[in-house]
Amino acid sequence: MSTTSLPVPLHPVALHLHGRRVVVVGGGTGAYRATVGLLDAGALVTVVSPVVVPALQALAESGSLAWVRRRYAPGDLDGAWYAVAATQDPAVDGAVAADAEHARVFCTRADDPGASSARPTLAEPGATLPRDRRRGRVVLVGGGPGDPGLITVRGRDALAQADVVVVDHLGPRSLLAGLRPDVEIVDASKLPRGRAMPQEEINALLVQHARAGALVVRLKGGDPFVFGRGMEELLACAAADVPVEVVPGVTSAVAVPAVAGVPVTHRGLTHEFVVVSGHLPPDHPQSLVDWSAIGRLRGTVVVLMGVETAPAIAAALVRHGRRPDTPVAVVADGTTGDQRTVRTTLAELGTAIAAESVRPPAVWVVGEVVDVARGR
Ligand SMILES: C[S@@+](CC[C@H](N)C(=O)[O-])C[C@H]1O[C@@H](n2cnc3c(N)ncnc32)[C@H](O)[C@@H]1O
Repeated sequence: MSTTSLPVPLHPVALHLHGRRVVVVGGGTGAYRATVGLLDAGALVTVVSPVVVPALQALAESGSLAWVRRRYAPGDLDGAWYAVAATQDPAVDGAVAADAEHARVFCTRADDPGASSARPTLAEPGATLPRDRRRGRVVLVGGGPGDPGLITVRGRDALAQADVVVVDHLGPRSLLAGLRPDVEIVDASKLPRGRAMPQEEINALLVQHARAGALVVRLKGGDPFVFGRGMEELLACAAADVPVEVVPGVTSAVAVPAVAGVPVTHRGLTHEFVVVSGHLPPDHPQSLVDWSAIGRLRGTVVVLMGVETAPAIAAALVRHGRRPDTPVAVVADGTTGDQRTVRTTLAELGTAIAAESVRPPAVWVVGEVVDVARGR
């Protein structure tokens, strides 16, 4: 007699989760992958876990989700429309699924999709593209500033083929939700002045996974070579004889001002633009920036990683010759649903950033181009 049982037929359905409470139990990369897709759908996500990966912490700190910092407890699913159990502990995932079943809340178990009352369907990026079977290599992909539509076709194709994806907290994170379930996600976020995976560890991980035969996609925000440490990763792979392909990306330095209506150049107004890292203040002994030269420029100055240092940098620019009333646009969370622009002047920059509670990631642009769209 055969003991093979027939699979239970499933009924495919898409959930309308916008504005609805969803509980994700777990704080690892599996929970992160589920969370980014849920946030994209507009769900009100609560993550329950004593610890979370840095990428989830960044989402909690930006107010994108609520983080309950403790282990799962009965009652946590109250009021939820949907739940995800992704703790990597089968006993806890089982308890969450059992509570969900009792409360009639559909639940996905990351450890056992077959035992789940809801199984996510795949929106695999580039699923129809021909698959390149070469493994044991690294593809450094610039993912663009955040909007998943701003990754290149080649970058999306690489993601569709990946075995391992090593991610940052910036960039098109919602694409992770569409990866095949067997793809391993590694969170290599570097939070501003917060938790960060050391660069040497990231380099070693890329090499290690590629040597084990994986196609590793290193997904970075913006362009890998614009303040992205992409070249360090490339050199580490090259030193280990691991083949690397570079897929350039749309950099936030140009794209973020653009979506806010600020061109970095404009005919008859600006013949130059310079992109500067503001992660160190002008008087810092390790600063490599010649602020006096930049202060003397007439063109556009684009500052990345310069929210905290903005008052000191603005003062240096004025000290070295830029007019205090030069227009400035600060664009935070560019190309995402949370995008916001603050318009001010160099003299008022520090006050405006504090008054508007601007937080990273933000790009700020100094120059006459800021007012072009206003017809000046
Ligand atoms: C470590 S740098 C990486 C830049 C990236 N490689 C690029 O080409 O866009 C991170 C900084 O990029 C800027 N940035 C990246 N994404 C952004 C976004 N969506 N909105 C505003 N600024 C962003 C911020 O200044 C942030 O602090």
